[in-house]
Amino acid sequence: MGGLLEGKKVLVTGVLDRRSIAYSIARISQEQGADIALSSFGRAANLTRRTAKRMDPEPPVLELDVNKPEDIKSVAEDLSERWGRLDGLVHAVAFAPEDALGGNFLSAEWPSVAMALQTSAYSLAALATGLKDLMEPGSSIVGLDFDASVAWPAYDWMGVAKAAMESTARYLARDLGEKGLRVNLVSAGPLKTLAASGISGFEEIEGVWGRQAPLGWKATNPEPVGRAVASLLSDWWPATTGEIIHVDGGYHAMGSPIK
Ligand SMILES: NC(=O)c1ccc[n+]([C@@H]2O[C@H](COP(=O)([O-])OP(=O)(O)OC[C@H]3O[C@@H](n4cnc5c(N)ncnc54)[C@H](O)[C@@H]3O)[C@@H](O)[C@H]2O)c1
Repeated sequence: MGGLLEGKKVLVTGVLDRRSIAYSIARISQEQGADIALSSFGRAANLTRRTAKRMDPEPPVLELDVNKPEDIKSVAEDLSERWGRLDGLVHAVAFAPEDALGGNFLSAEWPSVAMALQTSAYSLAALATGLKDLMEPGSSIVGLDFDASVAWPAYDWMGVAKAAMESTARYLARDLGEKGLRVNLVSAGPLKTLAASGISGFEEIEGVWGRQAPLGWKATNPEPVGRAVASLLSDWWPATTGEIIHVDGGYHAMGSPIK
């Protein structure tokens, strides 16, 4: 039987190591029959290439700093030559400087905030716009979200960036709908990745999550998120766009426990 993504060409950004959410997405997409390309940038690319070697077949790793328009352009050219089209784009990129996270909300200055917003929210639009001409009706863009409807400990300006990303995804869904492109987000529970370990105080959230999520939650297992993203890349959500799917053990649907 064919896989969910048989024959699809998918670009997965954001793979660093095997803990990366994007690694699960890439691995599961391959298992489901997709051809995958990864992207990484600067010094991180060595780590990404090492991770890519663990995949079968080993995917190419394209140079892509999402904040560099020239990188987006050359990725579009590469994919056009390589595949002639793109069926799926996974945005799994986020960054905020240290002074914009971890309890520094009131003291963070604009250059750090701007960096967080550009890398973590605007980049979804920059990438989608730069690659849209390779995408045919039915293609899918998926980004990774952390629930931005409330304020969290330590998440600070990254939380604001996620709120901007949620809105960006809705506007992209509006403007790319006429081309038949879908734009959706998966809102994940907390996962122990390199990016998460850079947010001091974020681990506080993990314990609460595990206790309060009706299905429970394992911060060491990105597989459920990987599966959801792979399914959104498939043809099985043909009428869904501008949506946020929670893959968080059900945590978002619960009220606070009464102390
Ligand atoms: N870990 C969590 O708890 C959690 C929860 C919900 C959502 N997310 C989101 O999942 C996504 C992936 O993060 P992760 O937790 O797997 O961590 P990760 O550290 O494995 O991945 C973050 C990626 O962003 C990339 N990146 C940073 N700046 C970039 C730039 N300028 N250009 C290109 N790439 C850049 C890094 O190279 C890295 O590959 C992020 O959007 C993150 O916000 C994470």
